[in-house]
Amino acid sequence: MPELSVLILTTDEDQRTLLPLLVDGTAIAKTVNTIFGFPEGTTDAVVRRIKDSRADVTLIDIPPRDSGAALRAIELLRVVSPETTIFAIGEMSQPHVIVNAMRAGAREYLERPTSTHLLLEALARLTSAQRKAHANSTRGKVFTVINAKGGSGATTIAVNTALALQALHGNVALVDVATLGHAALHLNLKPGFTLSDALHNLHRLDGTLLEGYMGRHERGLHLLAGPTEPSVTSGASAEFARLFDLLVLQYGHVVVDASSRLDPVTRVICDLSDHVLLVAQADVTSLWSAQKMQSFLADSDRLSLVLNRFRKIPGFSESDVESATQTKLIWKVPNQYALIAQGIDRGIPVTEQNHSEIARSFIGLASALTPREEEETTKRKTWSLFRSA
Ligand SMILES: Nc1ncnc2c1ncn2[C@@H]1O[C@H](COP(=O)(O)OP(=O)(O)OP(=O)(O)O)[C@@H](O)[C@H]1O
Ligand SMILES: [Mg+2]
Repeated sequence: MPELSVLILTTDEDQRTLLPLLVDGTAIAKTVNTIFGFPEGTTDAVVRRIKDSRADVTLIDIPPRDSGAALRAIELLRVVSPETTIFAIGEMSQPHVIVNAMRAGAREYLERPTSTHLLLEALARLTSAQRKAHANSTRGKVFTVINAKGGSGATTIAVNTALALQALHGNVALVDVATLGHAALHLNLKPGFTLSDALHNLHRLDGTLLEGYMGRHERGLHLLAGPTEPSVTSGASAEFARLFDLLVLQYGHVVVDASSRLDPVTRVICDLSDHVLLVAQADVTSLWSAQKMQSFLADSDRLSLVLNRFRKIPGFSESDVESATQTKLIWKVPNQYALIAQGIDRGIPVTEQNHSEIARSFIGLASALTPREEEETTKRKTWSLFRSA
């Protein structure tokens, strides 16, 4: 019985007839849909048909003389249908098309015209890799921390939540996508590589190379550092989608410090996240900004509010905060300027300060983000996760 379902996208009449026969001839895969034409944007009607196909594999037939639309379709698919694996079929005489197809997110590049034999080999490689990946790991969870307003404390919260998750569950990566990478300073790390190295080498990135780009904190937390000069780490949406695919295979939890970055990539990263923590302070401008961010990110299901430097506003309840921001409140972090500022200056985050109220607060936030995993580990771990004095 065929194991894999396949969707075909082509703009060539002959391939439209031929490719389903070749796919079905492999016996391990079956064509579920053939679409004539490539989607041009997320709102294109074809996108719905692609999503509805729920195909394990999508074959993109790249026409020899005009590769642009097919390459853009690969990028788009990585975003709108991240669970499908993309195989590109194209000419071997055009190296730039091969590189661009792989960069855009194709897993395989097969010679055009292709054959049942080539398809069978590629499909077999995929099923064996999937079996291995399934056996070794389940996909990790991504938590993105973003500011309602600059300086609200996103980096402090991302760094300390990542360390708290590391203490609770282990195998955590912190990814700094901010326009100036502060996370390495908070952790007193000087990594030799940054996020842009990972994005530039995406075409050859695997778990081992990814780990090589990571800075390592003594607690075991890995850091993919941000830029050391102000810049926006560029990359197409598909490149970030691919990087995050690898991150969640490698790590149980991925915390992203987006700080005050606001561009289309931020939106993509939030889309790729299981949970987005919007950091605000309890003052009027911050809460006003939080409401604006809520509509910018436009996904209230995965978005929750963290009130940093929490203080009670007389006459203003927590439910007032939630209705003003249209976001549910998940956590309140106490206002502890001296401890936090000293921790940042020394490169020793406050989570490392035994039994302090602020350390407990971050452990509490990490537990609130991982309720089911928490049930399994509390019996074994609890207070031993704090460093003894
Ligand atoms: N809970 C807290 N209590 C007191 N001070 C805090 C708290 N959290 C953060 N701060 C202070 O707020 C300042 C900004 O923190 P941080 O760098 O984490 O903010 P950010 O939102 O990442 O800033 P940016 O927008 O520049 O990326 C720091 O100096 C830190 O000391
Ligand atoms: Mg920051």
